[in-house]
Amino acid sequence: MKEELRKLEQEAIGELKSVRDEKDLERFRIVYLGKKGLLTAFMRRLGKLPPDQRPEMGRAANVVKARLTSEYEKAKQRVASHRERLEAVLDVTLPGRRPPRGHLHPITMTLQEVCGIFTRMGFSIVKGPNIELDYYNFEALNIPRDHPARDMQDTFYVSENVVLRTHTSPIQVRVMESQDPPVSVIAPGKVYRRDSDVSHTPMFHQVEGLLVDRGVTFGDLKGTLTHFVHQMFGADTALRFRPSFFPFTEPSAEVDIECVICRGAGCRTCGQTGWLEILGSGVVDPAVYGFVGYDPEIYSGFAFGMGIERIAMLKYGIDDIQLFFRNDLRFLRQF
Ligand code: DAH
Repeated sequence: MKEELRKLEQEAIGELKSVRDEKDLERFRIVYLGKKGLLTAFMRRLGKLPPDQRPEMGRAANVVKARLTSEYEKAKQRVASHRERLEAVLDVTLPGRRPPRGHLHPITMTLQEVCGIFTRMGFSIVKGPNIELDYYNFEALNIPRDHPARDMQDTFYVSENVVLRTHTSPIQVRVMESQDPPVSVIAPGKVYRRDSDVSHTPMFHQVEGLLVDRGVTFGDLKGTLTHFVHQMFGADTALRFRPSFFPFTEPSAEVDIECVICRGAGCRTCGQTGWLEILGSGVVDPAVYGFVGYDPEIYSGFAFGMGIERIAMLKYGIDDIQLFFRNDLRFLRQF
């Protein structure tokens, strides 16, 4: 029985060490010290011992009981002070922490908005390669060898015949090469130019548009782009078509909208003109049809191209294009 008592004591002490909370404590008390506990059961059996052994075993059992009781009290204090410390730093009534949630980049939002306006008019979305042949980026768009757009100052050349596309217009050629009219597509994507200041970045985004069918006129171009401007900047935004030049359109026009800052009065943003340029456009030059095998006697069409960063800057009143690419959360969180 001595051995039994020693084991019981050892086990009990061991178990007390792993007690963490009130629940563990109570379980310990019931199992070892309670009225139906192991120690009580042991003491009951003392009566069956020969009388000469009883006093010694009884004393030993009492010593163990006293020790376990005092160790139990110590554990109780340990648990209580642990809880106090926890409660001092932890308010369990506070709501849980939510994982931070991001949102779309303002350029992505603007791209989606532009694409949405045109897909609702029936245009479909197409893509083209960022690394492009000189042929599609320049030649088939009627941009001859000596055109300034081909200058090394403006274009990233990968090799003599391969460039990082400088605009999304090459996608027009790829689309017309692969399908017959009627065609109505928009082509969003990244473009690259050797340029960097407050209004230029080496990579930016454009959305290109192309519509070719029988009997398409400059009037269709005007109607389509007017609808776009009214959807994008509000139905009360004035716009104008200003004669311009692009090698792949004839006639060509740039579209200006009434300055979003001064509403046409003249300010620094619009260079006192009251107008801001937002895109290039025109009637597709018959020379381009020559490269893709469309008959200019049967078909006509219009095309346009716009810079998305510029549209976003005007729409949200941002004066530095580099902000879009710095990933500064103080900027991005404002959208
Ligand atoms: N590709 C021209 C640029 O990057 C923009 C442009 C102008 C696209 C006229 C067109 C267009 O489709 O018809 O400056």
